[in-house]
Amino acid sequence: AAPATPDFKDCVNATEPNGTSINCCPPAASNITAYVPSAACVSRTRMSAQTFTTDSNYYRKYMKAIEKMKKLKSTDPRNFTEQANVHCAYCDGGYTQQGNPNLLYEIHGSWLFFPWHRWYLYFFEKICANLLDDDSFALPFWNWDDPTGMKIPNIFVNDPDKSPLYDSNRNPDHLPPTVINLDWSYGDPTVDDKQQIKSNLSLMYTQMITQSKTQTDFFGKAYRSGDDIVTLDGAGSIELSPHNVVHSWTGTMTDPNNPIDMGALYSAGRDPIFYAHHANVDRMWNIWLNQLGGTNFTDSDWLNSTFIFYNEEAKPVSVRVGDCLDNTKLGYTYEDVPIAWLDAKP
Ligand code: C2O
Repeated sequence: AAPATPDFKDCVNATEPNGTSINCCPPAASNITAYVPSAACVSRTRMSAQTFTTDSNYYRKYMKAIEKMKKLKSTDPRNFTEQANVHCAYCDGGYTQQGNPNLLYEIHGSWLFFPWHRWYLYFFEKICANLLDDDSFALPFWNWDDPTGMKIPNIFVNDPDKSPLYDSNRNPDHLPPTVINLDWSYGDPTVDDKQQIKSNLSLMYTQMITQSKTQTDFFGKAYRSGDDIVTLDGAGSIELSPHNVVHSWTGTMTDPNNPIDMGALYSAGRDPIFYAHHANVDRMWNIWLNQLGGTNFTDSDWLNSTFIFYNEEAKPVSVRVGDCLDNTKLGYTYEDVPIAWLDAKP
């Protein structure tokens, strides 16, 4: 069976990497309704973040949306901190499996990784659109797999004093124009930009093609009711890298025992760049299906895995994995940008 859907009312404190306990539970929900898929109609196009300059209209829009989210009452589940907490609760011990109090319910490290984050972004984007009163609003994606996107996009670093897209909890050595190392681990020596870009492209090739031959390689291992996520060790190739690496490379290093913001799961959603990072992770799912011949699982335990989120109207809805497999049915698509790593075989 699919792991039982965690209910907000069963949420308990999560734990930071240094052991500190943290309450990131959403408000308890009643009257949870099931999300009803609507007829396909793409109205939102997620654009590559490096396309936008900090004086573009789009930049101002996204800034406005985040600013408004930050200003919502702290009890409103659409509030920015509440949104960040959604991620925290689902990944650092906020939920256990119903009927199995010794087993955590976790959305990393298994086949839930791609679909859970797709739904999370879906609602985050709809909340932005709702606050902007603009149905066409779509999140930017951090195009870290392309040479033109291999640094922190300018829209996230502009105007440290004023921009709600800025986050001071990032590694100061990794601000632009530093080129990202998609295979970074703490303390790596830096190589010259050209070399770095080349190895990033071959890493993309390896993770998306060589290491993603099967559904399990790509999505991660099956995670069913009664499975222990800790011993499952089930992350798929993209989740491990570049996904995890982009997190740790971006996050702060002030306290290596307790990284914050992008550097740790419980706090990652506090950095607005999180949503652009995950939009690109989500884009990899499409590329794997549409250009590399990948296919989705048909296992009913995957399709029927269900999560609860607050929607753009602050109402709780339950969503199935099986209803998010086609992004166009969720109303969004991605800007079609060149994929340089397709022929970067190492
Ligand atoms: Cu839920 Cu990028 O992690």
